[in-house]
Amino acid sequence: MSGILEGKRVLITGVLTEASIAFHTAKLAQEQGAEVILTAFPRPTLTERIARKLPKPTKVIELDVTNDEHLARLADVVGEELGTLDGVVHSIGFAPQDALGGNFLNTPFESVATAMHVSAYSLKSLTMACLPLMQNGGSVVGLTFDAQFAWPQYDWMGPAKAALEATSRYMARDLGKQNIRCNLVSAGPLGSMAAKSIPGFSELASVWDDRSPLEWDLKDPEPAGRGVVALLSDWFPKTTGEIVHVDGGLHAIGA
Ligand SMILES: NC(=O)c1ccc[n+]([C@@H]2O[C@H](COP(=O)([O-])OP(=O)(O)OC[C@H]3O[C@@H](n4cnc5c(N)ncnc54)[C@H](O)[C@@H]3O)[C@@H](O)[C@H]2O)c1
Repeated sequence: MSGILEGKRVLITGVLTEASIAFHTAKLAQEQGAEVILTAFPRPTLTERIARKLPKPTKVIELDVTNDEHLARLADVVGEELGTLDGVVHSIGFAPQDALGGNFLNTPFESVATAMHVSAYSLKSLTMACLPLMQNGGSVVGLTFDAQFAWPQYDWMGPAKAALEATSRYMARDLGKQNIRCNLVSAGPLGSMAAKSIPGFSELASVWDDRSPLEWDLKDPEPAGRGVVALLSDWFPKTTGEIVHVDGGLHAIGA
């Protein structure tokens, strides 16, 4: 039986550890028939080590999304390897420590700006860097943490995710004519590096123990990866500017 990504070429950012949502996305994408290329930050060696645990070998390219030189050469390097792209996964988030963990009212703008640059604006920069390779249309998928609500400890990552969500809608608007879709998966809390860097993350995650309709496993990023792969596939052909919740259903519950 052929997979839902058979024949597709996909660039995936954000593989840092085996707990990364992007690692599970890459694994599922390969299992579903995609040719995958990974980008790495901060060091290709870290990502290369994790990539060896994927079902198939994959090339790893260094990419800091705030580095204009890295972005400028991305299409050439990926083009040499894969020719064209059908999908791009943005699985990137970062906020400095003073922007997280209960310091909301005292965070300096410099730290807010970093969070916005890396976590939100980069969806646009990454997509534009890949655009020359997506002449036949394609699917861009990012990861958010529901920005409709103020969460404990999440602080300036909240406004950064709100900016990411809005950016995704504007990208859907501007790239629809080129048959490029842009969607997000809104995942529930997962125990990755990004999560561990949020002081008091367990307090935030415990909300899911109390209120999630479906049982939620903090240690299992596969459901989020499945959502990303589904949005990369041809099974959401007329869906763009959308946010699909893979959060156990918590977003639907008032109290
Ligand atoms: N873990 C959660 O609870 C959770 C929930 C919902 C959404 N998300 C989102 O999922 C995405 C992936 O996070 P994760 O949980 O897999 O954690 P992770 O720590 O494994 O991944 C975060 C990635 O961001 C990358 N990154 C940071 N700064 C970068 C830069 N300047 N350039 C390029 N890459 C950079 C890191 O290399 C890392 O691979 C993020 O957008 C995150 O906000 C996470």
